[in-house]
Amino acid sequence: METKHPKIILTGDRPTGKLHVGHYVGSLRQRVALQNSGEYEAVFIMIADAQALTDNADNPEKIRQSIIDVALDYLSVGLDPAVTTMFVQSQIPELAELTIYYMNLVTVSRVQRNPTVKAEIVQRNFETTMPVGFFVYPISQASDITAFKATTVPVGEDQLPMIEQTREIVRSFNGTYGEVLVEPDALIPESEACKRLPGTDGKAKMSKSLGNCIYLSDPPEEVKKKVMSMFTDPGHLRVEDPGCVEGNAVFTYLDAFCRQEQFAKYLPEYADLDALKAHYRRGGLGDVKIKKFLINVMEEELAPIRARRREYEKDIRKVYRILEDGCRRAQAAAADTLRDVKAAMKINYFEDEELIQSHVDRYQG
Ligand code: TRP
Repeated sequence: METKHPKIILTGDRPTGKLHVGHYVGSLRQRVALQNSGEYEAVFIMIADAQALTDNADNPEKIRQSIIDVALDYLSVGLDPAVTTMFVQSQIPELAELTIYYMNLVTVSRVQRNPTVKAEIVQRNFETTMPVGFFVYPISQASDITAFKATTVPVGEDQLPMIEQTREIVRSFNGTYGEVLVEPDALIPESEACKRLPGTDGKAKMSKSLGNCIYLSDPPEEVKKKVMSMFTDPGHLRVEDPGCVEGNAVFTYLDAFCRQEQFAKYLPEYADLDALKAHYRRGGLGDVKIKKFLINVMEEELAPIRARRREYEKDIRKVYRILEDGCRRAQAAAADTLRDVKAAMKINYFEDEELIQSHVDRYQG
């Protein structure tokens, strides 16, 4: 790239319920690390209620109730409102306005090729009933990202097509109207386990409707119960039997959560996760033992999150104020970009003295 842009983060989540540990290892944990790295000029985290409404138009109450849950999830994992601007998408009208202009830069067939949108159309039975707003949400997501001149978008793998679409819009816009927008890069988790944490039933994805989630807000007894009934290897019937590690949810969760020091602390007879896996494969290692270890490992990460949540829950009005203040800051940033966009597109008539003078000359000259 020609110019070096200040490093800015923008990402977000649809508020359709509480966030779970899949969200955590897939993105939230990394966001906190990025926030604390001090490498970013600004960090914007958005509660994407307008996007959630694109497939929940008949259920605004669900979205409305989830805003505070997601905000509490953000604050409890350690996103710090003094550093990170947390805001609500629908409160920033500039985002909708940008979308109107970007829609002219994308073809219908291009959106139809978006693999994530394709999969979602099938999941939601939208083949013949898809709202137009849902169809264009990747374009609105490009507005979310570009409005903040974001360079870096930490997301799950399923969001890569959205980032690619955003990059295309940026190139198209800058090519047609001049260099205004910034091309973002996606940042996805490194490990396979973090990219795709399975549900507790071993199914590919955690989802509320499958009832296979561990929520960040679950109390310790609930986490314990869920881990103790977690899917392992159905062929591993007796402790002596050799067990399979691949597709075994407990090991995938250990891949995502456990740290080297935790062996010395909880399972000193094993040097590391590889040694534990090797024993499980050989046979002689029971599910209860690995589950108890996983509970300890997860609790080390979840306990401080729960403690922070309890503090914020005592002052819900403060959480609303954090969001409101975030919206104010986010809107100021988006308004700056929209001003540049409109100037580049030459639709800033009343600020364009040259245009006005040329018309004066034409009609009065
Ligand atoms: N589509 C994202 C999701 O479903 C949410 C989202 C909306 C988002 N706008 C965004 C993510 C902008 C990153 C950047 O999780």
